[in-house]
Amino acid sequence: MTQVTDAPVKTAKTPTLPDAQKVTEVTHWTDRLFSFRVARPASLRFRSGEFVMIGLMSTDEKTGRDKPLLRAYSIASPSWDDELEFYSIKVQDGPLTSRLQHIKPGDEIILRPKPVGTLVHDALLPGKRIWFFATGTGFAPFASLLRDPQTYEDYDEVIITHTCREVGELEYGRKLIEDIRQDEMLAELIGEGFADKLRYYPTTTREQSPKMGRITDLMRSGEAFADLGVPPLAPETDRAMVCGNLAFNLEIKEMLEGYGLREGANSSPKEYVVEKAFLD
Ligand code: A2P
Repeated sequence: MTQVTDAPVKTAKTPTLPDAQKVTEVTHWTDRLFSFRVARPASLRFRSGEFVMIGLMSTDEKTGRDKPLLRAYSIASPSWDDELEFYSIKVQDGPLTSRLQHIKPGDEIILRPKPVGTLVHDALLPGKRIWFFATGTGFAPFASLLRDPQTYEDYDEVIITHTCREVGELEYGRKLIEDIRQDEMLAELIGEGFADKLRYYPTTTREQSPKMGRITDLMRSGEAFADLGVPPLAPETDRAMVCGNLAFNLEIKEMLEGYGLREGANSSPKEYVVEKAFLD
C-alpha cells in the first residue's frame, strides 16, 4: 500500500492524542506477526480493501517535541464491522512496529480517519472470477474484502492465494477463511452455499507444508491452475487484486499483463489492481 507522508501536526500543547482510538483486542500470531482491533470512529466510512494512516506519538530527536509517527495500514475488517482490525508485522528495530507490537487492550493509537486505496471493487470491471494474490501481511486488505458480501455477489468464484515463508505465518488467514465458511451472517446476506465460491490456496517457501513454492512459480508451471481446476487468467473472465512485497508485486504484475489483464484505478476500472503491503 502506498506510504503517504503526513503533514506535521502541532501537538506540543495537545493534552490527549489527536484522533485517538482505543485498542480493544490484540492477538499475537507468531513472533513476527500480530493483529489488533480498535474502536471505530462513528463517522468513519470506508470501502473494503482501503487503508488508513495509523500510529503512535513519538518524540522528535532534534526538537524534543512529540509528534505522530504514522504508517499506512490496510483495514483488515469489513466495512460492516463496528470495530477496525489491522494485521501487522513486528520489526524489532522498526520505528513504529517495534513499539506498536507492545500495545494492549485499553491503550490508545492514532487513527487518521481518511481511508484511501486502489484494492477496491470500484477499480475493477465486472468479471466472473476474482483472484486475491497476497504475500505475508499483504493478506490484510483481503481479510476485509473476503468478509464483504459484495465480493460474493459480484463474482461466481473467489480465489485467495497466500504465500508466506513459514507455516505459522499462514495462521491468521487460515483461521479467517475457516470463520468465513461458518459465518451465519454472511450466509444469510449472500445465501447458503456462498462459501463454496471461496477457494483458498496457501503456499510456503521456507518450511514444509502441503503446497510449497512461490505462487508466481506455481502459476508459471501451471501447477496452481491444475490444483484449482481453473484455466490460466483471461481478461474476459478474470479479475485480480495484488498485495505483497515489492518484488512479488512487480513480478505478478508482469505476469498479469502477460495474461492480457490491464491495471485499473478508481478513476479508470480495468482488470487488476496492486498495492504494496506495509513494511516498517
Ligand atoms: P521466498 O521465501 O522465496 O523469498 P517476505 O516475508 O520476505 O515479505 O516474503 C513473503 C513471501 O513472499 C515469501 O514466501 C517469499 O518467498 C515470497 N516472495 C518474495 N519475493 C517474491 C516474488 N518476487 N514472487 C513471488 N513470491 C515472492
